[in-house]
Amino acid sequence: MFNHNVGIDAIHFYTPKVYLDLADLATARLTPVEKFKVGIGQEKMSLIEPFEDIVTMAAEAAYDIVKGREHVIGLVLFATESGVDFSKAAGVYLHQLLGLQPHCRVLEVKQACYAATGALMLAKDYVMTHPGQQALVVASDVAWYGLNTPGEVTQGAGAIAMMVKENPRFAIIHEHHAIVDNQQDFYRPAYHEVPIVDGKLSIRSYKTLLQQIRFNLPLEYVCFHMPFAVMSDKASETLIQPLKPEVLLATKFFNKEVGNIYNGSLYLSLLSLLSTATKNLMGETIGMFSYGSGATAEAFTLSMVEGYTSQFYPNKITTNITARKRVDMATYEQLMATYASKEKSLNFTPNLMPNQHRFYLKAIVQGHRQYEKNQALL
Ligand code: CAA
Repeated sequence: MFNHNVGIDAIHFYTPKVYLDLADLATARLTPVEKFKVGIGQEKMSLIEPFEDIVTMAAEAAYDIVKGREHVIGLVLFATESGVDFSKAAGVYLHQLLGLQPHCRVLEVKQACYAATGALMLAKDYVMTHPGQQALVVASDVAWYGLNTPGEVTQGAGAIAMMVKENPRFAIIHEHHAIVDNQQDFYRPAYHEVPIVDGKLSIRSYKTLLQQIRFNLPLEYVCFHMPFAVMSDKASETLIQPLKPEVLLATKFFNKEVGNIYNGSLYLSLLSLLSTATKNLMGETIGMFSYGSGATAEAFTLSMVEGYTSQFYPNKITTNITARKRVDMATYEQLMATYASKEKSLNFTPNLMPNQHRFYLKAIVQGHRQYEKNQALL
């Protein structure tokens, strides 16, 4: 018999250490700041630095929850839509950086922002059929739409890592409904540097799929995939019973500061809710709605288990976000230009090296990405 008591045992998050305030973006783009901060609902966006990428962000997010379990992880699923290679999985680099045991399945998973949820469900099935084994699921993305585009205000960067196991100490996963519907709302063909986006269609498609698979019962807590904070308001309105304003606000707490992190954004919303909760949510059911353009969606629920508060790190996450350094528009544009050129380069060396990062990209040499660990910080 399968053990159905399977779910997330621990979860963590990382975002880069510099950000752009959207007031500065609004001024530069001759847009009322209220459009960005009220109409879109975002405050800031995290920016990727030259020595970071989806692999280093994933390693930063995963390190604390993987430590001590290197020998029991049999599956690594790396969900991203900001892949750095069409062939080699980013998880292979991550596997080495984290020092995981070699007899491990390592795959990159893609379906826009839904891939992490699909990976989580596959990891759950893996754990059910491989007693004693655990799975690592990471979601790591750089949301980059290009300068002066409608999507520019909805950018961000960050990673989520989740350990999946039997008898989890954070939350049990209960499946509900998945759905697929072929749409051209957001896609990035191989020849294109940034996604091709029909923003209005993407919002309609998101709401349509949510209406088709939404929860049958009213739920007090629901987290949504959050490309921008006001999308959650729109989503909440489609539920049988919209969320209370204070709950809705709590689900956006970190996302408003970080921006869209694509695959990780639903799980960052969960961390926002849990980190700001005024009471212990042990035993509560949390609805989760995952959406990936193209389009796929899945609604499922989590049951928070006893002791969940020691299986995530609200203080570390808050410090990561509040300690970020603000940069100006010129620096933002430079960082984005470097990001775009790095991902097209056969050879690349960052123009500065970090001293506060545990993992970093040292160079790309003939397409081979060379990563380093800062042992003093591990
Ligand atoms: N004060 C207050 N509010 C204002 C305002 C002002 N001065 N000016 C405008 N607004 C409001 C508008 O009324 C509008 O609100 P409603 O949606 O409630 O009508 C809101 O600000 C946004 O204004 P626009 O619709 O005019 O904004 P836009 O045309 O520039 O596009 C966007 C907004 C579609 C979200 C765009 O940023 C975009 O394309 N983003 C990327 C795609 C995206 O995030 N899609 C979401 C669903 S797809 C998905 O979820 C997957 C994913 O991660 C990408």
